[in-house]
Amino acid sequence: MNSDRMEQIVSLAKRRGFIWQGSDVYGGMRGTWDYGPLGVALKHKIMQEWWSFWVEERSDMYGVDAAIIMNPKVWQASGHVATFSDPLVEDLKTGERYRADHLLKDSGVNAEGLSNEQLTAKIKEYGVKSPNGNELSEVRNFNMMFQTNVGAVVNDNSVAYLRPETAQGIFTNYKNVVDSFYPDLPFGIAQQGKAFRNEISPRDFVFRSREFEQMEIEYFVNPNNWQQDFDSLLSSTYKFLTEKMGLNANDIHELDVPEEDRAHYSKKTIDIEFDYPIGREELMGIAYRTDFDLSNIARVSGKNMEYVDKNSKEKFIPHVIEPSFGVERLLMAILSTAYTEVQEDGKTRTYLKFPDNLAPISIIVAPLLKNKPALVEKAKEVYNQLRKKYNNVSLDMSGKIGKVYAKADEIGVPKVVVIDFDTIEKDGQVSVRNRDDASQIRQKADEI
Ligand code: GAP
Repeated sequence: MNSDRMEQIVSLAKRRGFIWQGSDVYGGMRGTWDYGPLGVALKHKIMQEWWSFWVEERSDMYGVDAAIIMNPKVWQASGHVATFSDPLVEDLKTGERYRADHLLKDSGVNAEGLSNEQLTAKIKEYGVKSPNGNELSEVRNFNMMFQTNVGAVVNDNSVAYLRPETAQGIFTNYKNVVDSFYPDLPFGIAQQGKAFRNEISPRDFVFRSREFEQMEIEYFVNPNNWQQDFDSLLSSTYKFLTEKMGLNANDIHELDVPEEDRAHYSKKTIDIEFDYPIGREELMGIAYRTDFDLSNIARVSGKNMEYVDKNSKEKFIPHVIEPSFGVERLLMAILSTAYTEVQEDGKTRTYLKFPDNLAPISIIVAPLLKNKPALVEKAKEVYNQLRKKYNNVSLDMSGKIGKVYAKADEIGVPKVVVIDFDTIEKDGQVSVRNRDDASQIRQKADEI
């Protein structure tokens, strides 16, 4: 764990307008985060790249955007009402609540796959106390779904939940997609959007939040071929993470999740872990969900979820492979990969080495001085010219070039274009400074 590096990244993200604590002005709200202009640009680019790669560039994917508040039967059928819980302990003095497995992990005790009774026993055996040094209660389950009431009457019949995963909005539309588009198997349905979990202890910046964004695919397959389709989605995942998100293959690791740690619906799960500055942690997962969800929907709704093979006329409920990505964890992996410190002329230069396709701002144009109208006019002209070619070009009129470079580095802008006296008096060439090695070349503006 490199907590210094993590602190530097969090501080830069806050200072430069990427991510702020939610409701900061009122003292914050734990587990919620607000995205500033650069953060939201980065997040949108991640989500757009994902949508292009997984949906638009493939012929076997269908996109949906389902409602966040769903009929509560969805969460009864899916097993979330009964089992979507984390192990909770209470500080017996302050009443504060913590995740039992996290307290054990923080004390160096492996708590993977243990039942509540086993967790309670381990807490006693190792004398684990609350972070305030107090005794802890027995471990019990805490359901993580946020509950609300729909309509003007608050009673048991009006209870609803904010969705804890986008997946169920896909399963509930499986039949609609089949009936409207008659897809051949295998095919996938993809969705991006908010998910909400009342995490007992949100922590590690955006890594464990109470409100976050998921990008999920339910890939419907013939049960005879599930392994082949699983492997193909896993290999596409590597391609996406390294080629589109710019992550280093060395930082990506596979964990074949043992049965006792898998979600209630999964027969096989590969967690893709990433070497974050907080340690090696889950980035995303691919799960083989069998026919668990569609069979439950058929049972509870009474509707037929069978697929009819167009050639053999065979009828069966398709099985499902689910690649499930969390936007915040991806964003955190991208930030930590991009964060670079180099020693230059006895000073530390810090920059975010975003891949070009993800950089929130692609080019900054700046006049060398702000009080020379000819430089300012030319800068505006070049800016307008470049804006026709590139998205997210920015104009900086501060006239303090050293500061422009430092800011451009810290927000990961690949190129800074400076208009100086030679530009207007001599050859029309501008200075183009490259973020990664701080080198500068002279170039005609229209050749950039
Ligand atoms: N539909 C399956 C599902 O939701 P999950 O492992 O619970 O599976 C999938 O979540 C992904 O969502 C995780 O790999 C992670 O990237 C992201 N995620 C889950 N809980 C999160 C949280 N509290 N904060 C941020 N991201 C989270």
